[in-house]
Amino acid sequence: MTFYKLSKKQRLVFKWWAAKSGGKYKSILCDGAIRSGKTICMITSYILWAMTKFSGATFGICGKTVQSVERNIILPLMSIADLRKIYKLQYRRSDHRLTVSAKGRQNYFYLFGGKDESSYMLIQGLTLSGIFFDEVALMPRSFVEQGIGRTLSVPEARYWLNCNPENPSHFIKTEWVDDADGANKKRILHLHFLMEDNPVITKEQIEEAKRQFKGVFYDRYILGLWTKPEGLVYPNFTKKNIVPEFGLRDRSKARFYISCDYGTLNAFSLGLWAIMKLPRGLTAFRVAEYYHSGRATGKLMTDAEYYEQLLKLSSGFSIEGICVDPSAASFITLIRKQGKFKVYSAKNDVINGIRYTSSLISDERLLICENCKEIIREFGLYVWDEKATSDTVKKTDDHTMDDMRYFCETFFKTLTGIGASVADPFEDFVKGGWE
Ligand SMILES: Nc1ncnc2c1ncn2[C@@H]1O[C@H](COP(=O)(O)OP(=O)(O)O)[C@@H](O)[C@H]1O
Ligand SMILES: [Mg+2]
Repeated sequence: MTFYKLSKKQRLVFKWWAAKSGGKYKSILCDGAIRSGKTICMITSYILWAMTKFSGATFGICGKTVQSVERNIILPLMSIADLRKIYKLQYRRSDHRLTVSAKGRQNYFYLFGGKDESSYMLIQGLTLSGIFFDEVALMPRSFVEQGIGRTLSVPEARYWLNCNPENPSHFIKTEWVDDADGANKKRILHLHFLMEDNPVITKEQIEEAKRQFKGVFYDRYILGLWTKPEGLVYPNFTKKNIVPEFGLRDRSKARFYISCDYGTLNAFSLGLWAIMKLPRGLTAFRVAEYYHSGRATGKLMTDAEYYEQLLKLSSGFSIEGICVDPSAASFITLIRKQGKFKVYSAKNDVINGIRYTSSLISDERLLICENCKEIIREFGLYVWDEKATSDTVKKTDDHTMDDMRYFCETFFKTLTGIGASVADPFEDFVKGGWE
């Protein structure tokens, strides 16, 4: 790619360290909407700054994981013609190191993942002349502090941070955004980005992004606001997401899965899902469900009895996999022992899972058959805990909601190619199953 034009805010990102007033700021923080052009110009400006001010120095580039930095930063960076004209860029995968050189100058940029345990260890021993945090609000505070701590012996070091907004009590908001332009040690230049600050984004792309998010995620990712979640978790679930019983559809064109949220006194919930390829993309249908609340019925059921219900629900369907509440170790073992189903411990990253599920609901790629009464009921009851200081859902009326989220994160995401690692059985399935 090439920067053929820059928006006013992007120009500031390129100028802040070079301007006469450059000494005023120690750090730059760009927050705001997705796809607003934060990452691409920050990383380019970071390289320019490092190459102008240092030689033989070491820098950090941090993201959620090393792989996400490679994909979202290094790959695009290598394709920037404007940079390649002046510098030689070499990325060595074995030690996650980018070397940038020109005219006798050479600097090293190491990649780190805020979520990777090994990165954590590695960063501890280094001295860095600058550190770049992409999507910093997704990293643990200890990692950010550790990274910044690595620069303290280099007086000219600077910090580069960007993120999409999160909960207003997040430390990036309270200690960085709210502290910007203040006389603190971090001396932060804060720039707030909107999609309009990306000069190449089209109206269609903006509309497409707007369609994907509702409620709190819309406020954060589109409007760029640090807002607290309120009210229903899935306000975007409407009649459009409810469809007639699955019975009449062609079963040979679908793949079937089951998701399970486990409870004894609390409710136990099973969802039977079909995934089909429709013109709008892969689409999931909740075909049928089983729901039992020990507390409400006064009857506690054993794992063996639950397993009977699982057999009943799956009867007549060929099930590709079952994902189960990761805390239900005994039930997972029981299913595995029976040897009839492939069982997976479900991915349980609540907020990311909700965000992903929410976008599928908005896209009408998550559909509920009208016979699934329990999940339709819980959609109307599942709410955010407005008293909490971080993003938290109320832990009531959340059982079908959890099994749905497990299904989306563990199976659906993997099949659409967004998921991190593809579990073995699905690889063949993706290759052989669709087209
Ligand atoms: N000035 C620009 N010139 C060319 N492409 C740009 C420019 N600004 C942004 N882009 C492109 O727009 C897309 C979104 O930018 P990105 O920096 O990833 O946004 P954000 O980090 O805010 O989500 C990327 O594909 C990026 O290359
Ligand atoms: Mg970005």
